[in-house]
Amino acid sequence: MLHPRIIVAKDPEAVGKAAADQFEAVIAKKPAAVIGLATGSTPLPLYRELIAREKAGKIDFTKVRSANLDEYKGLAPDHEQSYRKFMQDNLFDHISIKPENTIVPLGLAEDVDAMCAAYEEKIEEWGGVDLQLLGIGHDGHIGFNEPDDHFPAMTHEVKLTEMTIEANKRFFNSADEVPRAAFTMGIGTIMAARKIVMVVTGKDKRDILKKTFWGPVDPQVPASILQFHPDVTLVCDEDAYPFN
Ligand code: PGA
Repeated sequence: MLHPRIIVAKDPEAVGKAAADQFEAVIAKKPAAVIGLATGSTPLPLYRELIAREKAGKIDFTKVRSANLDEYKGLAPDHEQSYRKFMQDNLFDHISIKPENTIVPLGLAEDVDAMCAAYEEKIEEWGGVDLQLLGIGHDGHIGFNEPDDHFPAMTHEVKLTEMTIEANKRFFNSADEVPRAAFTMGIGTIMAARKIVMVVTGKDKRDILKKTFWGPVDPQVPASILQFHPDVTLVCDEDAYPFN
């Protein structure tokens, strides 16, 4: 069994900086790198750091391509809570990445199977993901791949669990407004990335982090599959590190 390379950073800001180092290195080596991006609170310090580093001339996003992990089903791209809007507001609108070089699953897709297949094809056409960023949910989800009896392969539609709806309702007026379904890259899509960086912060993530990398590989803890990926860097803060 493989273990991740582990960086224990002091706090969420330091996690953002350490994760930004990984992005800077990959993009310096390959200016047209394909980066897989994530939403949620944990990546925010990283996105602020990436914006600052491009302003400082340390990273150039003009050739970079990006593919996001997931999107809520039924939300328009400009909906306040859509992941497309989150990415525009927190990263894309502040860096030089070209709009046509950013993809997020289409929340309003009418033909779901066709949209999911086209998403996979686009990533393949780009030559695959060079660096995939991940957060982790309290139930071990990555993207919106929730605990299940198997590891789903490709981009697909998922029903959100009560735990995820509960965790994400903070962004909506009430739990009732949280969409019940989403589109997400599959576990297979994520595992195909050449390099993976997972960012994790806060005491409340400590238990799931331990199960993920130091427990059995089990589809009930979807992120545990990362133990089989050859190039994972875990960047966590002191609160989240299970052995502090
Ligand atoms: P968070 O979300 O960064 O907001 O905790 C992580 C996730 O659910 O994947």
